[in-house]
Amino acid sequence: MTIYSVSDRDTEAAGKALAEKLLARIKPDNSLVIAMSGDLGAGKTAFVRGLAAGLGVNTRVTSPTFTIVNEYPGSVPLFHFDLYRLSDAEELFDLGWDDYLQRGGVIAAEWSENAEDAFPGDTVRVRIDKTGENSRHIHIVLPPGLE
Ligand SMILES: Nc1ncnc2c1ncn2[C@@H]1O[C@H](COP(=O)(O)OP(=O)(O)O)[C@@H](O)[C@H]1O
Ligand SMILES: [Mg+2]
Repeated sequence: MTIYSVSDRDTEAAGKALAEKLLARIKPDNSLVIAMSGDLGAGKTAFVRGLAAGLGVNTRVTSPTFTIVNEYPGSVPLFHFDLYRLSDAEELFDLGWDDYLQRGGVIAAEWSENAEDAFPGDTVRVRIDKTGENSRHIHIVLPPGLE
């Protein structure tokens, strides 16, 4: 599915809609994983802000660039990863990635291309392409079973 965005708000709304669509499918011992790719400034963090809103997170979402992961409590917790500075998937496992996968929240990971091996088969894929100053194409691919 491709969503055409012409503003931050559109991109946030796309994230919110995705969270609302998937909320009921999250199991307590199996986090929903959303792998996000797209250049710097594409709108990945904006999309995650929307995800947070859809999950009932009230805290302002900012980029976790310097911490790798931010945790936000909500009706289901949101774990917001930014893998921009990650050197390899192993570093992610050292951070307790396997535990995050089992915590029954939503994992949204920016720069997933930096740890491709870490993502489970049933990962939701979101790629944002910058097509103009304010225009974006948001490509969302749901794994079988979540469609
Ligand atoms: N349609 C759009 N969707 C998302 N962000 C947009 C859009 N148009 C302009 N922007 C701007 O692009 C930047 C996106 O930043 P951010 O969400 O932090 O990107 P990323 O996390 O991919 O690096 C912001 O400055 C935002 O205002
Ligand atoms: Mg970002």
